[in-house]
Amino acid sequence: MKMKSGFDTLQSHATRLQGASSSSLLAKDPARARDFALRQESLYFNFARQSYDRDALDALLALARARDMTDAYRRLFGGEKVNVTEGRAALHTALRGDHSGAAVAREAYATASVVRLRMGALVAELEASGITDIVSVGIGGSDLGPRLVADALREPARVHFLSNVDGAAAQRTLAPLDPARTAAILISKTFGTQETLLNGGILRDWLGGSERLYAVSANPERAAAAFDIAGERVLPMWDWVGGRYSLWSAVGLPIALAIGFDRFEGLLAGASEFDAHVLNSPLETNISVRHALTAVWNRNVLGHAAHGVMTYDQRLALLPAYLQQLVMESLGKSVKLDGSAVDGDTVPVWWGGAGTDVQHSFFQALHQGTGIVPLDFVGTIRHDDPYAENHLALMSNLFAQAEALANGQTSEDPHRAYAGGRPSTLILLDALTPESLGALIAMYEHSVYAQSVLWGINAFDQFGVELGKQLANGLLPALRGEAEASDPVTKVLLAELKARS
Ligand code: F6P
Repeated sequence: MKMKSGFDTLQSHATRLQGASSSSLLAKDPARARDFALRQESLYFNFARQSYDRDALDALLALARARDMTDAYRRLFGGEKVNVTEGRAALHTALRGDHSGAAVAREAYATASVVRLRMGALVAELEASGITDIVSVGIGGSDLGPRLVADALREPARVHFLSNVDGAAAQRTLAPLDPARTAAILISKTFGTQETLLNGGILRDWLGGSERLYAVSANPERAAAAFDIAGERVLPMWDWVGGRYSLWSAVGLPIALAIGFDRFEGLLAGASEFDAHVLNSPLETNISVRHALTAVWNRNVLGHAAHGVMTYDQRLALLPAYLQQLVMESLGKSVKLDGSAVDGDTVPVWWGGAGTDVQHSFFQALHQGTGIVPLDFVGTIRHDDPYAENHLALMSNLFAQAEALANGQTSEDPHRAYAGGRPSTLILLDALTPESLGALIAMYEHSVYAQSVLWGINAFDQFGVELGKQLANGLLPALRGEAEASDPVTKVLLAELKARS
């Protein structure tokens, strides 16, 4: 479905461009290879392989202006209640910097800074305690961010993540660990999440009590009461931080334990520097705005239903999974802020993987399938492993894939022809450091917000996940044989379960 309001001009640019690919646009305007690049400190973005030209880009920027994008960011950073359906601010930026003069944002920054000091002390205490392993128990926003960063920047792994309610996950996580030398952190904004409560119980029993249990929650009383965790071992978070935006808060405790508290602060500093870029740059050079406008061009003007993130850095292998929650939980909406139906499509399906493995898996479909999937390619210029030849090979594959998708290749044999015209954005980090990773994640957060502003939707609620949770709770008595299911298919499935177990 094409967007209507405010998108007509974009549509006329698409008609004018008649499906021109980036290679034909580059042939007419070779300078776009350089001019469509933007840099912020150690992050480089090249949008030249997208299929809009300079005039269409101007129209995209005009759309951002028409949506008051600069003011939208001011409201976000200033702590206004941008999460209108829940009447809350979304002040994740205040967890990492003091960018807004607004009193509420400054207060949030001060509050977060005090907790960060407590967090630093806790990390020092745990590091000195003789504990060798930490199990971080949480799910969704209370898991994916810390898991990504810890995996990307870890020293030899000593932090283990347990999220799934499947008991096999707990069994596998705990099997190699020694309970006498392990501590656990239970992370849950609400402390009402089934998975975390059940897995928390498993950890408490496995550890032989609550002595080495820690918690992070916006509901600290509940955390303390449910697991008998002493107050000094519970770190707070707040309702003005969304779960999927919370890795910068005490939810990042597993990160600090995995990579050290100083490097955790480096992560925050990198994100904060990117925040300053987003808040203070004109729309023309604002990287998150450009990324969001590119997403809207591909989704609403060209109608592409999927978006891929391919990381050409093994350490970022978990980035696609993290972004799936950030992007799809934020932007998977069908109604606007006022509750009326959106007048076009919102988020495409986001997915991805790590190159070069993906090339030997699903890239066939990206090169020759009937659907076009715009991509973000993410690579790192400096490598930190000792295998220089492998790094050259990795980078050559990264550049080659983007080229092949864009330019294609003709052949008399239709089976061997590549249509080309498949857009991608190239993202390069100078090196993978806490600072550059913080900036990259902040870039995506701010692009998500900009997309929500362009679509007129709320990026900060997630009511869509509630129904399944309620039904699952309601079905527990039926699974225990204490009640009947009401859905006819579920009834048959339960009978099958009973007969075969
Ligand atoms: O999956 C829905 C969700 O509410 C996410 O938004 C959230 O990050 C996750 O569950 C975990 O919630 P909590 O931190 O409250 O346990």
